[in-house]
Parts: sequence; structure tokens; C-alpha cells
Amino acid sequence: MLVISITSCKDVITSDAFYEKDATHLVQDALDKKVDSVLNLMTLEEKIGQMNQYNGFMDFTGPVPKSEDIKRKLEHIKLGYVGAMLNVRGVKEVRAVQKIAVEQSRLGIPLMFGFDVIHGYETMSPIPLAEAASWDLKAIQESARLAAKEASAAGINWTFAPMVDISRDARWGRVMEGAGEDPFLSSEIAVARIQGFQGTDLTSQESILACAKHFAAYGFPEAGREYNNADIGTSTLYNTVLPPFKASNDAGVRTFMNSFNQLNGIPATANKFLLRDILKEQWGFKGFVVSDWGSVAELIPHGYAQDGKAAAKVAVNAGTDMDMESHLYVHELANLVKEGLVDKSVIDDAVRRILKVKFELGLFDNPYKYCDLERENRVTGSKEIIDGALDMALKSIVLLKNENQLLPLDKNGKNVVLIGALASDKNSALGNWRAAAKEHTGISILEGMQQYDADIVYSKGPELILGKAEFTKEIRINNTDITGISEAVKAAKDADIVVMVLGEHGLQSGEGRSRTQLTLPGVQQELLENVYEVNKNIVLVLQNGRPLALPWAEEHIPSIIEAWQLGSQSGNAVAKVLYGDYNPSGKLPMSFPRNVGQVPIYYNSKSTGRPSLPSPDFVFWSHYQDEKNDALWGFGHGLSYTAFEYADLRVTDNFSFNGTLEVMVQLKNSGKVKGKEVVQLYISDKFSSAATRPVKELKGFELVELETNASTCIKFLLDQSHLGFYDNEGNWLIENGSFDIWVGGSSEAALKATIELTALE
Ligand code: NOJ
Repeated sequence: MLVISITSCKDVITSDAFYEKDATHLVQDALDKKVDSVLNLMTLEEKIGQMNQYNGFMDFTGPVPKSEDIKRKLEHIKLGYVGAMLNVRGVKEVRAVQKIAVEQSRLGIPLMFGFDVIHGYETMSPIPLAEAASWDLKAIQESARLAAKEASAAGINWTFAPMVDISRDARWGRVMEGAGEDPFLSSEIAVARIQGFQGTDLTSQESILACAKHFAAYGFPEAGREYNNADIGTSTLYNTVLPPFKASNDAGVRTFMNSFNQLNGIPATANKFLLRDILKEQWGFKGFVVSDWGSVAELIPHGYAQDGKAAAKVAVNAGTDMDMESHLYVHELANLVKEGLVDKSVIDDAVRRILKVKFELGLFDNPYKYCDLERENRVTGSKEIIDGALDMALKSIVLLKNENQLLPLDKNGKNVVLIGALASDKNSALGNWRAAAKEHTGISILEGMQQYDADIVYSKGPELILGKAEFTKEIRINNTDITGISEAVKAAKDADIVVMVLGEHGLQSGEGRSRTQLTLPGVQQELLENVYEVNKNIVLVLQNGRPLALPWAEEHIPSIIEAWQLGSQSGNAVAKVLYGDYNPSGKLPMSFPRNVGQVPIYYNSKSTGRPSLPSPDFVFWSHYQDEKNDALWGFGHGLSYTAFEYADLRVTDNFSFNGTLEVMVQLKNSGKVKGKEVVQLYISDKFSSAATRPVKELKGFELVELETNASTCIKFLLDQSHLGFYDNEGNWLIENGSFDIWVGGSSEAALKATIELTALE
């Protein structure tokens, strides 16, 4: 039975077989009718209420508004003036707040409960940038699925993830939250994460809403400074920034979050071009857009609205459907409608979108769907979730350098000394955006290594930070106190191998954590060089949330592992890699510069009119006087304990119209152990009449596992869409012409073939 006409919203809380089984358009029609049947019952104030999201009762991600107290928020829930909460979590809390909405408000419309489940809920998986280094879409999807499982068991039904912002600037702290610099890889990862969070059936108890954020260009802040303005051209906007958002929409993401920044002079929160013209009209997005925290009110300091009323007006008219914690929609919209400054249809459209998502989640059928205490106890920190976090952590590790096969460590008998404050830190490797993780619950590298060498000598060296690290507070780095260096040097002197764990504290990257230096913070470089003076057999394990510039280490240290912030199972994963029980296969999703002055640095840059040195010592070409142009470790770089050889790159005949092209390459594991390799395919459009193209663009990759001495043929299928691009007006174009194709184990791939596209009229 299809419920169309009802007198109280509570009547809609009934399941409906039609809704589940029929053809998509009928389901959509039925859904629309249900939504309308609720909408018809609502007063203007109740409609606006659905567009209002309040923070819960803790200070989580920003200045807590002083204008409203808890009592007032509860009162608003009772009046039906709240559509969603954030930062209310745990079955008991969620149930209590939901009960007020469902039982005490006039229409009983259930609330959504949002939370930043960015890389795990209570059990932390690696930070998203680290996960991206796995290039393992199945593993990334599984990681998001497990996060959704744990979060949904704690009452959460909406995560503010994935962040799909491309960034080329490691100074920006939030690179830790994205998938790096490449639009193709980031799009694939965005889809994997969305499928992991939302599952195949949103009505499942384990599915939660995903949110593609931050729309758009938040990853391009000027000078890498957090919240700063983005001034970018249309070529970068259409070809680099927007594709992961478009892929998210195509994958069925139900919500978008807009961003804090201005884009070319217009704040994203009030940017009609982004929200209405592109997202809702061109791409046909059917879900709803939530503002970022307080970003409607921030239109005032941006200088785009003179007061709260004007801010609410421009934001809603531009297409921001829900106001997160500005309290402006709930205060201003009703009057704006009455005065004719906001059309009723704008409100109805926003509310329809929000209600529809609530129906899709099944909240009208069961508002307490996520409130099962027994499930919360059973699922939180369960073996399945912990094992998943370990698996993801292993896959995220990147071997940057391994001279003389210093790694893996010999399990029997070598005298290994471990150094560095981060090595024993049980908190830092949880990373930023640690959701509901309990403090100091990560397995440290010291603990991980003790499983292999119970008596390992550990010398902490100087502290990395002073005092306690907190989410909302500046970190105080130890820049002066070198206590511990001499002891570390003494311990290192007679060791066979020294493992040094250095890098950034877990709360040094993330929101509000921009840096102007990409060196090792504090006195760590001094520690490293002092230890090197007495023992050159150093394995450097890096823990960091962004690319760092480490030219000295690259030149002097024989083995370097990028271990990011790997979450709850960090130490176990690092130890398994160090001792060879896991052969690393990660590849960098973001270029590591030699020097902060090269930033923004990215492999898929455009050429210039003077790209190379014409003759020795000549100065007039595109370069620096004091640094090389290329990255220290480029996009896609990552080694293995085994060796891979690429040979015999072949392409089938040139494209036929509407056809595909096969690209084949032979891959051989020519080393001594089994291993995995990410085979990468890049193209280059050598000439374009509409707008220039990058020197290289990733268009395919394949994760392959091979036994030692085994070979396989990898086949990629390219179609013409892989060769297309957006012109500066946003039109999709494919042009005839010559394209280079490279295949290899990084963006430095050496094997090259050239094809001609001639089939187009
Ligand atoms: C601000 C952040 O920019 C956003 O990503 C996050 O989801 C919200 N705060 C809510 O915590």
C-alpha cells in the first residue's frame, strides 16, 4: 500500500513493499509522493526547521555559538525546528534526542545524526591520505564499510566524509583527509568510500549517509593557509577540482557539504554557480547540501553579506539546503519568505531533498533504527573491525627507499635500537579527526616491535611536543630542548641497525593545521644527524599527515618507510613490514617536494614555453636557481622488498570510432619474494587546440600480486572518454591527435607508446 494522504507524519512510519521492489522511477515517484505528503502537513517554520542542524552538546570543531544554550536547542527540537544534529553519539544519547523529536514534536519527523567519521569511529583506520597510498579500492571500500558499521552501531546515520578535495599544497593541513593530488585516483577512491559508507541498501542498519566535501576548491587555499581564498582558473576547476565531486554524485552520494573558502571572489556557501548551476542542474544532484560549520554566518566576515539576514538569504538562494550551526536559517528564513526575499519554492525544494533522504534511510519506518544497545556493545571494537584496521594499515605503508636491502630486518639476532618520541606514542598515530577514538589507544611502534624482539633497546630522544595535544588547541613543538639526544646517540653507537621514528604529531595536520615549513618539526633533524654521525645503518620510519621535504634524509639514510598515521593498529602494521612479514606495496598519492618553495608541486602540471634547459648554464628557462624542478619522491612512487620489471608495451590498432584501445604490458616479479605492484597507466595529449593539457595524466591502474619469478600480462582498456577533457567553458571535448601512453610503477613510468586518434569528425 502506498501512503499518500496522511494527517500526521507518524502515519508515514509504516513499511511499504511497493517502495522496495518496483522499478526505479516508480520507487522515485512513490518516494516523491511520500515526501509531498509530509511537506503538505508542515508549517513554514517546521519546513525551515528541517533545514537547521545543531551541534550536540560538546565543543567539537569550532567556536561554540554563544547565542543558543542547550535548553534552547532542546526546545527547538520539540518545536520541530531542527532537522539534524551533529556530534550527538552513542546509542543512549542518540535515542534520547531522537525520542524528543519523534514523540514531542507536532509531526514527529525523525532527526539525522551526523558525525565526522573520517577514518574510523572508535577503531581508527589510517588517515585518508594514507589509505589512498594503498591504491587498493577494495580495501578502501571495506575500510569505509567497517567505519560505517561501527558508527551506525553507535547511533550515527550520516558521516561527513569522504573529503574529495584535490590538493597540491602540502602546507595545507587537510591534505591528510583527502586522497592526494590526482583527480583520477581521487575520483576512484571517492566512489569506493561512498560505496563503503552507503552500501548497496541505505535502509540497512549498517549503512550511513556519505557526504562529498568540501564543495569546492577548499584544497587550493592561497599560500596553503587554512580557510584562505582560492583563485583558480576554469581549466583547473573543471579538470582537477570538480571531477571527484562529479564522480561522487554519479556514485549516488546523498549529501554534499560546501566549503569555507571563496572561489574566485564568491564564497562557496553562497555560490550559485557551484551549487545550483553545476551541482543541482548540470549534474542533477538529488540529495541535499549542508553548509560547513557556521559557514553561512561566515559570509559576513567574508564581506559577502552585511548581516545574518542577508547571509541566510544569499546562502539559501544559492542552494545551501541545510545550515550547520550558524542558527541563521532558523532565525531569518521565515521573515525572508514573508518579505518575498526568498521564494517559498526554494524552501520547499530544500525540505523535499532533506525529507527524501530521511525516507531513503528508512528513518520514517524506524527512527530508532541505529539505536540498539546490544549491537553497539557487540560491534564496537570487534575483532572484525580491528582486523580490518590492521589490514588497511599494512596496505597503506610506502617503502620510499631501501638501499643495500637493509630492510626487512633479520628476525634472528641483529641488535636493533629504536629511537624517537613518536615510537612509543600511543596517541599520535591515531591521526587527526579521530572521531570517538579513546586517547592513547593506538598500538605504538615500540609495542609492535616488542612482539618480534622483546628486549629491544628503546631510547626516546627529545620530546616532540610540549604539554598535551588537543583537537582545538595549537600544538606546542619542542624547538629547543635537546635532552635525550646524547643518550640516543650512545644507544645507537654499537647497534647493528637503528630504527628511527620521526615526523609530525598526529594533531599537526588536519583542520586549522597549516605549516610554512615541511621539514621535520622541532629538534628531530638534529637528532637524526647526530645519530647518523655514529651509525649509518638507519631505517627511518616517517609518521606524518602530509608530504614532507626531506632532502638530507633522502641523500643519507639508506632505508625510509612512509608510515603516515596508521590508526589503532599502527605499531603492529609497521613492525610486520619492518620484519618482513608483510611486503609493502603502497605508492604515494601526493608528490613529496625537495623544498617547500616548490609547492604547489604535482606531477600532472602543464608544460611551459620553456620547459627544458637549451644549453648548459643558460638561464632563460622555467627553473629555480637553487633547486631542481622535480619532486623528491614523485606521485605514484613506492618500492617493494621484491623487484618488478616492465617490458613489451603494446597497443592495439588506433581507435575506431566509439571503440576501445587495448594497452598491454608484461610484468615480472624478478626479485626474491612474493609482492604486489600498482601498475599505472598515464597518457599525454600532446597538442590541444582548446586549452593545454597536463604533461601526464593517470588514466588507469591495476594492483597485481605476483610470486617470485612469475610474469603476467596486464591489459588496460582505454576508450575515448579517457582522452577527453573540459575546455575553459566547461564543455567536454575529445580531439583527434597524437597521444603518448606510458605504463610503469610510478608517474616516472618509462615505457612509452604513441597512438593517433583520427576517428572523430
Ligand atoms: C568543519 C569541517 O570543515 C568539516 O569538514 C566538518 O565536517 C565540520 N566542521 C563538522 O565537524
